[in-house]
Amino acid sequence: MALAEVLDLDPNPYVLELNLTARTSTVEVGPGVFARGVFTYDGALPGPLLRAKRGDRLIVHLHNELPWPTTIHWHGLRIPVEMDGVPGHSQPEVEPGQSFTYHFVLPDAGLFWYHPHVRSAAEVGFGLYGALLVEDPTEPDLSADELVLVLSDLAVDVETGELFSPESGGDLATLFGREGNVLLVNGRSRPVLHARVGRRQRWRIVNAAKSRYFQLELPGHTFTQLGADGGLLARPVEHERLVIVPGARADVLVTPRGTPGETLALRWVPYDRGFGSVEFREIEDLMYVALDERVPVESPPLPPLEREIEPLSTERATPIELRLGQVGSGGTLTLSINEQPSWDADPIPAFIGETQHLRITNELSWAHPFHLHGFFFQVVGEEPLAWRDTVDVPLLAKVEVLVRYDDRPGMWMFHCHILDHADAGMMGMIALEHEPH
Ligand code: C2O
Ligand code: CU
Repeated sequence: MALAEVLDLDPNPYVLELNLTARTSTVEVGPGVFARGVFTYDGALPGPLLRAKRGDRLIVHLHNELPWPTTIHWHGLRIPVEMDGVPGHSQPEVEPGQSFTYHFVLPDAGLFWYHPHVRSAAEVGFGLYGALLVEDPTEPDLSADELVLVLSDLAVDVETGELFSPESGGDLATLFGREGNVLLVNGRSRPVLHARVGRRQRWRIVNAAKSRYFQLELPGHTFTQLGADGGLLARPVEHERLVIVPGARADVLVTPRGTPGETLALRWVPYDRGFGSVEFREIEDLMYVALDERVPVESPPLPPLEREIEPLSTERATPIELRLGQVGSGGTLTLSINEQPSWDADPIPAFIGETQHLRITNELSWAHPFHLHGFFFQVVGEEPLAWRDTVDVPLLAKVEVLVRYDDRPGMWMFHCHILDHADAGMMGMIALEHEPH
């Protein structure tokens, strides 16, 4: 159940320095199911959990032993653009046999993740991702057992261990977004978590799947959500079901109830993100929570977890329209933002200190998880307030977000986090500059 961890090369407690080797590996994803040719960091699926504190420096020496070029994008981190991992804008691709060092200070507490930004749908689909947990040393004790859960899936022939081609199913599959057939939690199919009745669990969850939405349910229980992409929410909120779109994170508390010896099933429930996502699809068990034989306990009451989040305002914000759609006919499927696929699109200008009001309209009958690199935004109308970097834009719907750009000039990408969609053209750029005088 536990994720692999890393060896810190630097004795300084405020520096986490490590080697990370991207290479293919054979991985046991379930009893007797060995997936071959999995893309991994350090041979592990998912890659090792990187654990640091807010304000620490992270130094990662990436060595590429994959047959393909790669990079690392630090999803959700407000770091300089040179460290953002986007080829052509941050750095060149790291070719097979080459290395690249990422180094930056971790500005925010929260759960983040890392993944490549070269042939993303294929490389992430093949298993290349890991979690980065940045703790807040001032946070009160929650009297909880803590666990990071990396949710994903893998498209694998369970008989032979062969991974399916990232092009399987052609344009139709691209339009839907390819989902794997085996659901994974921390790289395992249906793992078992041992828990004590009444003892609070804190799960910090990331959806690292390239297309699949995760809607979670633990029958008889609720999820108390404390945080999202950019750390704590303005206040906790209760959910019967928890939806985490690709790229997004949730920080939740669950208190297991039941009889010692009983096993609970955390379930994946189909979520309507367009045709094919709910039709003829079954609820699946995702993970088991085995209530151990220890006598039940009562968890102490939660300390106050309010967070002051200054609301951004639409007044004086620059309105920017973004229409998610499809262009062209014939040839291969091309997706677009404002009628342009990423390779034809002009960047959207922005200035340091400016607040933009992104009005994202989804013109397609499939939902798109919209992600912006390098900055958090607020979703207009969301209650309680949250800092996010990824938000669902439901089918044929409109979502508005507010983002204020701080002093990190450069080209910042935004895209759909259904990575098949991103690779098919649903990406764009913000060109962030100093205001002209
Ligand atoms: Cu996880 Cu370009 O993003
Ligand atoms: Cu999409």
